[in-house]
Amino acid sequence: PYPIYRELRNQAPAYWYPHSGLTGGMWFVTRHEDTEMVLKDLRFTKDISRVSAVPQQLSRHMLDADPPDHTRLRALVSQAFTPRVVASLEPKIRSITEDLVSQIKKGQDFSLIESLAFPLPIIVIAELLGVPDRDRHLFRDWSSHLIDGADILTVTDPEAGQKAQMALGSIFKYFDDLIKVRRHDLQDDLVSLLIAAEDQQGKLTHGEILATCFLLLLAGHETTINLIGNGYHALTRFPEQLQHLRDHPEHLSTGVDEMLRFDAPVQRATFRAALEDLEIAGQVIRKNQQVAAVIGAANRDERVFQNPDTLDVTRTPNRHLGFGRGIHFCLGAPLARLEAQIAFELLLPLGLPRVVHLERRPSTMFRGFRDLVLSWS
Ligand code: HEM
Repeated sequence: PYPIYRELRNQAPAYWYPHSGLTGGMWFVTRHEDTEMVLKDLRFTKDISRVSAVPQQLSRHMLDADPPDHTRLRALVSQAFTPRVVASLEPKIRSITEDLVSQIKKGQDFSLIESLAFPLPIIVIAELLGVPDRDRHLFRDWSSHLIDGADILTVTDPEAGQKAQMALGSIFKYFDDLIKVRRHDLQDDLVSLLIAAEDQQGKLTHGEILATCFLLLLAGHETTINLIGNGYHALTRFPEQLQHLRDHPEHLSTGVDEMLRFDAPVQRATFRAALEDLEIAGQVIRKNQQVAAVIGAANRDERVFQNPDTLDVTRTPNRHLGFGRGIHFCLGAPLARLEAQIAFELLLPLGLPRVVHLERRPSTMFRGFRDLVLSWS
């Protein structure tokens, strides 16, 4: 998409496309400055029921909500994702990652997605939520169906759509039961934290807890798969950068941010629509019109980044928008960063990878691989 993004940034930085969007057409905003503004500006709503006839859902999660609901829905969950809490998860995440990496056989071709990028984030989030080990495999299957069903492929593959619907139902049923069990037997997990807060101010309803569990599962899975997959793929395209990280693992922190910039797992942000007429890049956006903040394009904007099409694992500062901006800034960012850093720390010493097979996942929102098979040079 990157040559197209460049053309859009230069020729039509706010581009109206009449054939997509939930409200009949959508603006695509591609320059860094404008994209950042759209992400932060509260003149855009995330709540579709405010701009269209779609009835408001009974139970929403934070990503579909505006303040003050958003504040309430986010506050409780954010206690579980502070940098301090996340740092305390490091030994656990390291041990899960070591276990997965130890199954990669040296000298043999391996699928990065299957062996590490797919299982790692789903195991971690299931663990955080409080899903017992014995049920993890269920989530692997359900999440896989959901991701397949979210593809634009679903249009041509009704079976994938059906499986996704069934997975959706199974996940809701599972969490519904788990919440009921935890109500009588609180544990040291996220579901219990949300239930325990029920008597406090800012409490969540049963439906909201359910929607939140679902959001965490979804928001944390495909995205982290893509960070690990796209990041490793980018390193194979810039072998000197890969070598640099092998020699200087202390640069993994800036390295992971650069991977998020270079090939953003989330290419465009979720639903936003204007609450009033406003102007972006010389264009008038009318009230109720939908706007896509194209993160993938903003991250390559030559107005902000030097040599934007080059991967530079030491790039600082790095004002990429990979985790969004403003009040909806990714809640899981510290967790995603930690998972990716540990994954690369353990992968890099294994050898110098060469791509033998890759298959992209067709999607206009996410960018990543369905499969990425590597061999060691
Ligand atoms: C929001 C990206 C991992 C939970 C977002 C947004 C982006 C993003 C761009 C903002 C969307 C918007 O404003 O429309 C990513 C990327 C990840 C990642 C690239 C991995 C590399 C995670 C993880 C979790 C998570 C691991 C949790 C387990 C959330 C939540 C929100 C969010 C709850 C909504 C925040 C709000 O509405 O206040 N993420 N995410 N994400 N992310 Fe992430």
